[in-house]
Amino acid sequence: MGRLKDKVAVITGAASGIGRASALGFGAEGARVVVTDLRVEGAEKVAEEICAGGGQAVGIEVDAGDEGHLKAMIDRAVTDFGRIDLLFNNALNTRPDTIQRDMDFLKFDVEVFEINMRVNCLGGVLASKYAIPHMLEQGGGSIIFTSSTSALGGEITAFTYGATKAAVNWYVQTIAATYGKQGIRCNAIAPGVMVTPSQQAWSNPEMDAAFLDIQNVRRLGKPEDIANMALFLASDESEFCNGTVYEVNGGMNCATPMVPVVRRLLK
Ligand SMILES: NC(=O)c1ccc[n+]([C@@H]2O[C@H](COP(=O)([O-])OP(=O)(O)OC[C@H]3O[C@@H](n4cnc5c(N)ncnc54)[C@H](O)[C@@H]3O)[C@@H](O)[C@H]2O)c1
Repeated sequence: MGRLKDKVAVITGAASGIGRASALGFGAEGARVVVTDLRVEGAEKVAEEICAGGGQAVGIEVDAGDEGHLKAMIDRAVTDFGRIDLLFNNALNTRPDTIQRDMDFLKFDVEVFEINMRVNCLGGVLASKYAIPHMLEQGGGSIIFTSSTSALGGEITAFTYGATKAAVNWYVQTIAATYGKQGIRCNAIAPGVMVTPSQQAWSNPEMDAAFLDIQNVRRLGKPEDIANMALFLASDESEFCNGTVYEVNGGMNCATPMVPVVRRLLK
């Protein structure tokens, strides 16, 4: 308890999955949390959960693709809680129609590219633009982005998602380099396969079994696995960590692609 005592946190896409688990974790560790999401009732519910546990939080509507919303989000943290120490850029575009339109490279859809880039990448960049002046004034802060394993290699579907996360990784390094000497750290977490509503929207039991097969742990990921890493990166325990993309993926990339095959043959 108290690892984030006296800190003020803002989290996007926090009504569900990784964002929700992180908001609850940050609140339980003493942060005052601005819980934000496109779905305001979901954000309010998470804020209520934090308050019910003895913490302080407010839930507000924020479209991570809208610069005006992002500015208002940072202003709200400062107005309600007096400062901003932690910014967790976690939202992703979950519009079902855009997911369907992103499956075939020969039908590459510019509008889908722009929406995904705007929400998944630009949103975090613009939120940082508004948060950093406050962090500079305070003498520091920690910015975290949710990246993805999809940014680390080629894909055979979802032809814009990985690109948005690869761009996230560049901004993480750039923000880290630009402001590290002034006490602002910026890091990313690249989750593997985490069981969340958006993951379940495109996966099925057969795919989940296949993903488990290529991991080198005994289960698929949970939102709390990422929340725990976010908690570390938000806390002063990580003050020597800057500009890094941390893979949290059940050891998905620790072995050669032959390992699952050999493991089956050895059975
Ligand atoms: N689940 C996984 O396997 C996985 C793997 C790699 C990366 N990620 C990343 O983790 C992050 C969280 O994903 P999740 O799996 O927890 O998803 P999730 O679906 O559980 O939560 C996403 C949240 O974002 C919100 N949202 C959608 N559009 C938004 C917008 N325009 N503005 C603000 N909020 C919006 C949704 O309402 C939802 O509450 C994302 O950045 C995702 O790319 C997830």
